[in-house]
Amino acid sequence: MHSTNVHHIVVLPGDGIGPEVTAEAVRVLKASARSFGFGLSFETHDFGGIALDRFGDPFPESTQDACLRADAVLLGAIGGHRWDHEKGVRRPERGLLTLRKSLGVFANLRPVTVPYQLATRSPLRVERVAGTDLLIVRELTGGIYFGIPRGTGFNTMCYTEAEIACIASVAFRWARKRSKRVTSVDKANVLEVSQLWREVVTTVHRDSYADVTLDHLYVDNAAMQMILKPRQFDVILTANLFGDILSDLAATLPGSLGMLPSASLGGRTGVFEPVHGSAPDIAGDGIANPLGAILSGAMLLDDLGEDAAANAIRHSVSDVITAGLRTPDLGGTSSTQEIGAHVERGLVASADARLIGHDT
Ligand code: NAD
Ligand code: IPM
Ligand code: MN
Repeated sequence: MHSTNVHHIVVLPGDGIGPEVTAEAVRVLKASARSFGFGLSFETHDFGGIALDRFGDPFPESTQDACLRADAVLLGAIGGHRWDHEKGVRRPERGLLTLRKSLGVFANLRPVTVPYQLATRSPLRVERVAGTDLLIVRELTGGIYFGIPRGTGFNTMCYTEAEIACIASVAFRWARKRSKRVTSVDKANVLEVSQLWREVVTTVHRDSYADVTLDHLYVDNAAMQMILKPRQFDVILTANLFGDILSDLAATLPGSLGMLPSASLGGRTGVFEPVHGSAPDIAGDGIANPLGAILSGAMLLDDLGEDAAANAIRHSVSDVITAGLRTPDLGGTSSTQEIGAHVERGLVASADARLIGHDT
């Protein structure tokens, strides 16, 4: 799929803390390319509120064209109070939905891990959250976000059997690489669309993935279970809106939304973005946690087949956390740039050590 060893990345920093955290992700990606001997080229484009200001469109054609040509899209965050009065296609958030739809990235992967070093930062008790390792597989290009008709005061939640079967297969395949358990989350006690969801997930499971354990939870109970016993989950399969809500809830487990990365896959070009938004309350202060963005960079490298570099980034992030170097959301005093620089340094040092190890 990616024929050359120079991967072309389109960077969409966006609004608020988006540019602050993507700058650190790009810094770490560049260092990983140098250390691991592959090429990365970067091209930056306006997207979201800033693009609305400059072009009258949150997802202008020039940005669309660049994304369609890219090997991967690295995204910061979009939106903010300045554009909150905008409606319909002028909303920055709508630009993000169009980006996802036009790239066909229907599968949004949101891993949530709670290493022991971070468990003390959780508002939940350490013994409850430490060791959590779950993956939310969120359907991303359908459901109530896109359902028609939509208009003032109403939206439509709808899924076709094909859409459900596609996202279910993604969840089952990921479960096979993990602990082989899928929990499908729906609202089948009330919504007809969820009844179809449950039926199709059950059929796909029976026909093709019977080696994986499947169970079903209603979304209200799933929200409670995630806080009560987060370690019970392996892969959580769910619809667009439920996945959006559950992933911010899951951010309480490691103690900060700033920790969570994501990958949106399913088309030719993947989109890699932290789960958080533009954080207007801290934008411009230089204190946003860049680790969600940096770890999204690692997921981007996974997708491009640069596994060693991706793992090295994850190791360096883990070392930085263990060393107690943290932004204020995790109780530390480091700046966004300091954390980026520490991750970069750790990555380069471990790559150098590896080379020396090979020589001797
Ligand atoms: P948010 O995720 O921006 O912020 C929620 C809270 O988490 C805030 O207190 C914020 O300071 C904190 N936070 C978020 N990321 C952080 C980080 N990296 N480091 C430290 N703290 C962090 O959610 P919101 O305030 O509801 O939304 C703000 C804007 O962002 C809205 O316009 C919304 O539509 C948009 N948004 C965009 C995306 C995206 O671009 N993918 C995602 C979510 C929200
Ligand atoms: C997310 C965000 C987006 C979503 C918004 C900004 C459109 O909250 O990626 O989680 O709801 O998908
Ligand atoms: Mn969200």
